[in-house]
Amino acid sequence: MSSVYFVNSGSEAIEGAMKLAKRYTGRTEIISFKNAYHGSTHGSLSIMGNEEFKNAFRPLLPDIRQIEYNNISDIKQITTHTAAVIIETIQGEAGAVVPQNDFLKLLKKRCNEVGAILVADEIQCGFGRTGKLFAFEHYDFIPDVLCLAKGMGGGMPIGAFISSKEIMHSLTHNPHLGHITTFGGHPVSCAASAATLTVLLEEKLIEQVEKKEK
Ligand SMILES: Cc1ncc(COP(=O)(O)O)c(C=O)c1O
Repeated sequence: MSSVYFVNSGSEAIEGAMKLAKRYTGRTEIISFKNAYHGSTHGSLSIMGNEEFKNAFRPLLPDIRQIEYNNISDIKQITTHTAAVIIETIQGEAGAVVPQNDFLKLLKKRCNEVGAILVADEIQCGFGRTGKLFAFEHYDFIPDVLCLAKGMGGGMPIGAFISSKEIMHSLTHNPHLGHITTFGGHPVSCAASAATLTVLLEEKLIEQVEKKEK
């Protein structure tokens, strides 16, 4: 069973996912990837890959480590100190970099071994844009947390982070309402999102992606 937490933007979905992983694991280290883009808030900026862009806004979050996308030996840096590994299923700002050689499957295996939460950022590549509803469906792995926004609202502001009920439950206590936001899940944005999903599925737009890509 999964549980969805609605927010207002992609950056806020990432913030929520980072807090969720810290709260669930009781750990603080967050690992992200070189050249990654996850948003412009302080938390999402902290895990961004572009040092030059980050420098103007320091100090940012402590205990962040960056490893190289598609580098299998770097996966060893994920340890029992790691709360979350946050990865764009397909890197967007980095130039549409796709995962190679079972990289995501191996990443998930390592996260399972050390008890770290694997967060897939599909804010840019999700919601049908790669020819599947979610990009992770191409790569034979299931993330522990999925972040969505952008295409999800069909032009209206909405984002979400999604996880199992068990993991998400940790945001309900200590403190009570561990992530709150006034307009998250606004009915107008939700109606737009539901309509977007209906059009994507009923008009079979997702099935046309691969042909149109070519
Ligand atoms: C992969 C990715 N993550 C997060 C974000 C941040 O989303 P937002 O601009 O809705 O805060 C973006 C936006 O470009 C993105 O491409």
